[in-house]
Amino acid sequence: MQASDIGIDKNLCNGCGACVTVCPARAFSIVAEKAELTGSCTFACDHCAATCPQQAITVSFTEEREPFEFASFAAEEAVESPSDTSLARLASVMRARRSCRVYQKRPVDREILEDLVKIGLTAPSGTNSQKWTFSIIESRPKMLAFGENIATYFGKMNRLAESGWLRKLLKLGGRPELDIYYREYYESIKQALSQWHEKGIDRLFHGAQAAILVGAQPGGSCPQEDALLASQNILLGAQAMGLGSCLIGFAVEALRRDKKIKMALKIPTSEKIYTVIALGWPAISFPRPAGRRKVPIRWIA
Ligand SMILES: Cc1cc2nc3c(=O)[nH]c(=O)nc-3n(C[C@H](O)[C@H](O)[C@H](O)COP(=O)(O)O)c2cc1C
Repeated sequence: MQASDIGIDKNLCNGCGACVTVCPARAFSIVAEKAELTGSCTFACDHCAATCPQQAITVSFTEEREPFEFASFAAEEAVESPSDTSLARLASVMRARRSCRVYQKRPVDREILEDLVKIGLTAPSGTNSQKWTFSIIESRPKMLAFGENIATYFGKMNRLAESGWLRKLLKLGGRPELDIYYREYYESIKQALSQWHEKGIDRLFHGAQAAILVGAQPGGSCPQEDALLASQNILLGAQAMGLGSCLIGFAVEALRRDKKIKMALKIPTSEKIYTVIALGWPAISFPRPAGRRKVPIRWIA
């Protein structure tokens, strides 16, 4: 929950009641033909100010408000109404997004990375808690240092998994994870690690030049969902900018299991990282959209 202060300019208010209708906390009433705050604002959603046709309501957060101005492109001035949105354009960006695993050796400008975070911030968050965090790795050498720590983690995992008796013992104790890891990942990770160490081949980030790590501070009501929704916005934003992107689940797993990796990135250990989004200018294009399996839709009529 964010602390906020709601101001109502009674001279501007025409008593239309839009704020009364929109407020999820039912905090507004019309008193003597003017809006009045008669209840308490529970999560500072800002909808009252956003909907007021008279601009009579202001919500000032005690925290600083993020200005939605973008540095790397000119956003349209007006907030689009649904009928103005080109669904064809939106759907084509969604359909064209693919995981990129071939990148140019060209850095991604800082302002582009910052704009992607702002695009991420337009996502919804449970009870508007906005407890998400965004950590940007902005250069290839830093990506390599991050990758080195992840390689160390998976090297340790592979050494553990090599022990048949340990796998068996853990499995007997009701912890089959190491056995599953051995069967599903051990061989391919062994190969990827030897390519990383001996030939400098990057099968982790695929040569991406930058990454955005989306996480959450403790205290949000739905931290994982919030981070994932922001991440999807970032993926689509990157696609619309012509950038390639790829979620790196292996990096998330390593960050989750080994605090030292987080510490090396100066990310507080209390923060949980939910996605690592590798980014860079693509060196490949996908003229055809993704093939997806047919999904049965369950109609509940
Ligand atoms: C949670 C998650 C983790 C992923 N982790 C990796 C990864 O570690 N390495 C990788 O190359 N791709 C990773 N991917 C990308 C998927 O393989 C990819 O999204 C999937 O094959 C569909 O392809 P598309 O993204 O091109 O449509 C991940 C995707 C998701 C959603």
